[in-house]
Amino acid sequence: MLVLGIETSCDETSIALIDGNEVIANLVYSQIQTHRKFGGVVPEIAAREHLKKLPLLFSQLVEETKIDVSTIDGIAVTKGPGLIGALLVGVSFAKGLAKRYGKKLVGVNHIVGHVYANYLAYPELQPPYIVLMVSGGHTLILKVENNLNISIIGRSVDDAVGEAFDKIARLLGLGYPGGPEIDKTAKTGNPKAFQFPRPKMYDSDYDFSFSGLKTSVLYEIRKLETGGIKELPVNDLSASAQEAMIDVLLYKVTKAAKENDISNIVLAGGVAANSRLREKLAEYSSNFNFYIPPLEYCSDNAAMIARAGLELLKEGKDDGFTLEPSPNFFEMSEIQY
Ligand code: KG4
Ligand code: ZN
Repeated sequence: MLVLGIETSCDETSIALIDGNEVIANLVYSQIQTHRKFGGVVPEIAAREHLKKLPLLFSQLVEETKIDVSTIDGIAVTKGPGLIGALLVGVSFAKGLAKRYGKKLVGVNHIVGHVYANYLAYPELQPPYIVLMVSGGHTLILKVENNLNISIIGRSVDDAVGEAFDKIARLLGLGYPGGPEIDKTAKTGNPKAFQFPRPKMYDSDYDFSFSGLKTSVLYEIRKLETGGIKELPVNDLSASAQEAMIDVLLYKVTKAAKENDISNIVLAGGVAANSRLREKLAEYSSNFNFYIPPLEYCSDNAAMIARAGLELLKEGKDDGFTLEPSPNFFEMSEIQY
């Protein structure tokens, strides 16, 4: 089945063409350079950038793949969660294409897209499995019992873990996005130099909390500065804060897997790129099988949206012109499409 996918929920403009689990093209334009000077994603600028780039990426895709658009089986677009202005650009563009080529159109839950990204990298993967979704916008533990039955069993009650990386990096005077900066500086730091809290680690639920950690880092910095330190030990602070976040993530996701009697754990989202996180998986690898899709499918992209949409198209679904963005619709325990 040939499916065209469109993703514009945050700061990546992406368009892709897949044939089943095979990715024919997955074009991603990251707006990161544009938002960097603001220290975070500016929603209105994100929407304007999508509007500028999406038609260009579509032309590029048609040119590169030589696809005759009239031969595709349908179009899948992210309907949410995400930034409303950004989502509106993708949904409107998708509606235009659906009308122009007389194609079926399905709206896809972005989180479900992240789950389906796995099949692009590991077509052999079979439910049940647990997903640790760690990005700038979400920190979730998902239980996938079968392809249509995905439940959220844990989530951050405040900041997402990527957001915590970004905020802590800012406190340490590092650049944006902060995750890769902390990852880099932590490599030469001592993860035991500072004992930061592991919030909610031993709670009985699978939820997370990361905003308190950021405050602890702030207090530590103030204490060091009040003590007259000339140069902050940025590497040790990075390594210690990173260690606290990774300890909680790995402890909780393996606990979720164990208590649900599931041995396959999939990592998704930008934070899955973290080198210390990947290194520490080894400590658990005798009891669990870890799947880490390559970053191009882990971070936001349209191929994963197309792959999730394919399931809906297979069922004969067509949202047509009734499709509307749903910016907040992951506020639920069962994920719906
Ligand atoms: O999934 P993603 O690319 O975009 C969305 O948030 O949807 O994730 C971006 C997040 C940012 O917060 C960034 O700081 C974090 O992933 N990140 C990392 C690393 N690379 C990206 N965090 C920790 N270590 C990394 N190497
Ligand atoms: Zn995402």
